[in-house]
Amino acid sequence: MIKTDRVETDEKLREIAELAEKIWHEFFPGIISEEQIDYMVEKFQSYDAMKEQTLHQDYCYFSVSDNDGICGYFAVKPEKDNRFFLSKIYLRSDKRGQGIASEMLNRVFSEALNSGKTSVYLTVNKHNEHAIAVYRKKGFEIIDSVVTDIGNGFVMDDYIMEYKL
Ligand SMILES: CC(C)(COP(=O)(O)OP(=O)(O)OC[C@H]1O[C@@H](n2cnc3c(N)ncnc32)[C@H](O)[C@@H]1OP(=O)(O)O)[C@@H](O)C(=O)NCCC(=O)NCCS
Repeated sequence: MIKTDRVETDEKLREIAELAEKIWHEFFPGIISEEQIDYMVEKFQSYDAMKEQTLHQDYCYFSVSDNDGICGYFAVKPEKDNRFFLSKIYLRSDKRGQGIASEMLNRVFSEALNSGKTSVYLTVNKHNEHAIAVYRKKGFEIIDSVVTDIGNGFVMDDYIMEYKL
């Protein structure tokens, strides 16, 4: 049984930061360098970064737990226009392949609809084949690609994918 909760406390956000660090170092080697992983975790997924996002940038984090505790999370942000940004979606490796991501995406879609939005978009590394396959299966389409300079000599080489609500 999966439980999805809006993250309201610093304690939960710290748990998410811990999980993010584990997942990134487990999943992204082979796609980006260890140096880039360290840099991106610190810049986007550390407790301080996520606290800033939630306090000043309209991000909202959700934790996903089962009987064993927290096993995943996602973060969303309503844009000023009619789009809803799915900024992050991550599951611990032992919880993948069980359809949990579909439940998470359904929650994202309902949050977007509740905010009056007409589409959900995300960015995904061009070499993250599994995530791209999952997003396609759930109805997202690639609408663009973008290379973003994130500093320190690193770039994010992404597709932009969109789901029309
Ligand atoms: C991306 C992620 C959250 C997806 O979770 P998951 O557990 O692997 O996905 P699920 O098994 O729940 O699959 C979701 C759906 O995609 C389908 N799917 C999975 N792999 C597929 C494939 N290779 N081709 C087509 N469909 C696929 C599943 O059948 C399921 O659809 P259904 O529920 O309608 O049957 C998870 O793999 C993850 O955390 N990966 C590491 C981090 C990451 O890449 N995050 C995204 C960054 S943009």
